[in-house]
Order: sequence, then structure tokens, then C-alpha cells
Amino acid sequence: MSDAGAGSLDFDAALLAAPRPGARRRRRVLVTGSSGMLGSDLVPVLSAAGHDVFGRPHAELDIADAKAVSRAVRELSPDVVVNCAAFTKVDDCETDARAEVVNARAVDHLADACRRHAARLVQISTDFVFDGQKAAPYREDDPTRPLSAYGRTKLAGEEAALRAPGALVVRASWLFGRAGWNFVEAILRQVEGGKTKLSVVTDQLGRPTATPDLSEAIAALLDVGAIGVYHFANRGEVSWNEFAREILWRVGRRDVAIEPTTTEALARPARRPAYSVLDTGKYERVTGRPIRSFREPLAEYLVSRAHPEA
Ligand SMILES: NC(=O)c1ccc[n+]([C@@H]2O[C@H](COP(=O)([O-])OP(=O)(O)OC[C@H]3O[C@@H](n4cnc5c(N)ncnc54)[C@H](OP(=O)(O)O)[C@@H]3O)[C@@H](O)[C@H]2O)c1
Repeated sequence: MSDAGAGSLDFDAALLAAPRPGARRRRRVLVTGSSGMLGSDLVPVLSAAGHDVFGRPHAELDIADAKAVSRAVRELSPDVVVNCAAFTKVDDCETDARAEVVNARAVDHLADACRRHAARLVQISTDFVFDGQKAAPYREDDPTRPLSAYGRTKLAGEEAALRAPGALVVRASWLFGRAGWNFVEAILRQVEGGKTKLSVVTDQLGRPTATPDLSEAIAALLDVGAIGVYHFANRGEVSWNEFAREILWRVGRRDVAIEPTTTEALARPARRPAYSVLDTGKYERVTGRPIRSFREPLAEYLVSRAHPEA
């Protein structure tokens, strides 16, 4: 892949040189896919950081529509466009043309519009660009080799984004957030539906990541003017099986048996990397921010789920 800036510490020199009177620079930020799991958390985080945020859900802005994208960027005149829109059903991507249209070609439209209107593009990407054969955490400059159509189309989206000057690609892994369907819900809903025995794979390892923490990370990267490719994930490497155990332990359901199974036995349509742990050292060095264990935002998620009104 063309990995402009990956692996080194990349800043926008002009941004860093700009006067910073003790406060963040206020920017106009367009967020696409704003009602998705990440978009729903990112919009309030960027607003709280002092930016003027224009969230556009799918129903208001279809990023596959080049004219609509161009019009939105022209009319809103954003300094930054954060693309949270994607076709994220990993197995469906194998056969559904929307994977290529939304994850790859639409990012070209966004990159074109950003280039024309001097906006910075932030593209969200995934650990699934890697093949999972490595035995140590993946760095930004490690070779990519996606195993699935989802991974291939997301990688094409990265490449499209990086053709826009000053673009930032943030790869994240195993997202969970209150606004979307995710692994935490998948486990809890089965148990709440009466299941007392679950089979969960032990042979895929990764770093679960909370969308509020990823949102703060995106804000921090914008703050320092980062460009190129960055990895962000919460701390803690686990298998899906261990993640399931952690979830059920935290909600006090020790009565549920979580049996080990394998990726091969599940025979899902899309292949997944066996090991997709992201190295987040570059993010930590550039932003100077520590990263929490996924267990902390998981605990917060479970409290907010139990008390949605609070
Ligand atoms: N979920 C994960 O575990 C994970 C892991 C690593 C990276 N990521 C990446 O993180 C980003 C955010 O993912 P997420 O988990 O928040 O996904 P999500 O909940 O599925 O949100 C994606 C949003 O994009 C919207 N969308 C789909 N097609 C669109 C189009 N043509 N135009 C505009 N909006 C469109 C969807 O709207 P509709 O639902 O109405 O179609 C949805 O609101 C994505 O780039 C994803 O690839 C996700």
C-alpha cells in the first residue's frame, strides 16, 4: 500500500507552528456516518473539545453520491472531514457490492472534495487490513495483506484517503459502543434470552476498543496535527473467548458456560486474522496520552447499559 507517513512521527508542521494560546484550535468538522456506533460518540466528543461539528447521518449524506459529498463539503466549508461511514457487516462484504462502493470508492469522492476545498480528511480503518500471521503487535508500517473483502475494501479506502494532502488514517480494532451492535451486546443478549452455554473462539486475538476512547483519540490526533497512519486500541490483548468471559464475569453471570471453539469450526464466510493486536506506541508518543485498559470503558458501558437514564 502507499503508506504516506506510516511508521514515522508525522505532524503537520504548519499546524504545530500556529499560535496555540493554551487552547485547542477550534475547527469546523464534518462527521459522516454520524449515527453509527463510532459517529454517535465522536460528535459529542468533538463538540466538547470546542469544535463546530456538523454530524451527517447516512439519511442526510450518502457518501457514495459524489455530487452530494461535493455539495456538503462546499456548503459547510469544513476544516476537517471525519469519515465514520462504512459498510461494516464483515461477512456480507464478501458478496455485497456496497462494500466496494462505500468502503473504497466513496472515500475517493471524499478525498476529491477535501482536496478541492482544502479540508483535511480523517479516514477510520481497521485491523482487518492485516493477515494475522505476525507474532507481535502490528505497527503502522507493517505490510498489509487483508484476508477478506471487508479488509480489502477498507485498505483501498485508506489508499484513497492518503491521496488527499494532510490525510489521517486511524486504524482501530474490535469496537464496542452504546450506539451500535457489537460483541458485548451479542453476548449479553444471548444470555438475557436464556442461553446458559455459549461457544466462543479462542484462536483470534485482539485489543477490544471502546468508541468513546477512540473518539477522544481522534480528537487528540487532530489536536497535534497528526497526518499519515496511526493505530489506536484500548490496552489489553484477549481472545474473543476471554472477552466474553470478562463481560459475563462483570455482570455476575458465572453460571454461563463459555466453551472454546475455533474459527474453522464456525466457518464464517469472511476469513479473519488470527492475531490482529495493534501497536499503539506511535499514538502514545505523538499525543503524549496514556491508553486505558478496555476493562475500564467496558465497566462504564455495562453501568450505562444497566442505567440508561443516568
Ligand atoms: N465495528 C468494529 O468492530 C470496527 C473495528 C475496526 C474499525 N472499524 C471502523 O470504524 C468505523 C466506524 O464503524 P462503526 O462500528 O461505527 O460502524 P457502524 O455502526 O456500522 O456505522 C457505520 C455508519 O455508516 C453508515 N453508512 C453506511 N453506508 C453509508 C453511506 N453510503 N453513506 C453514509 N453513511 C453510510 C451507516 O448507516 P446505515 O446503518 O444507515 O447504513 C452507519 O451509520 C468504520 O470505518 C469501520 O470500518 C469498525
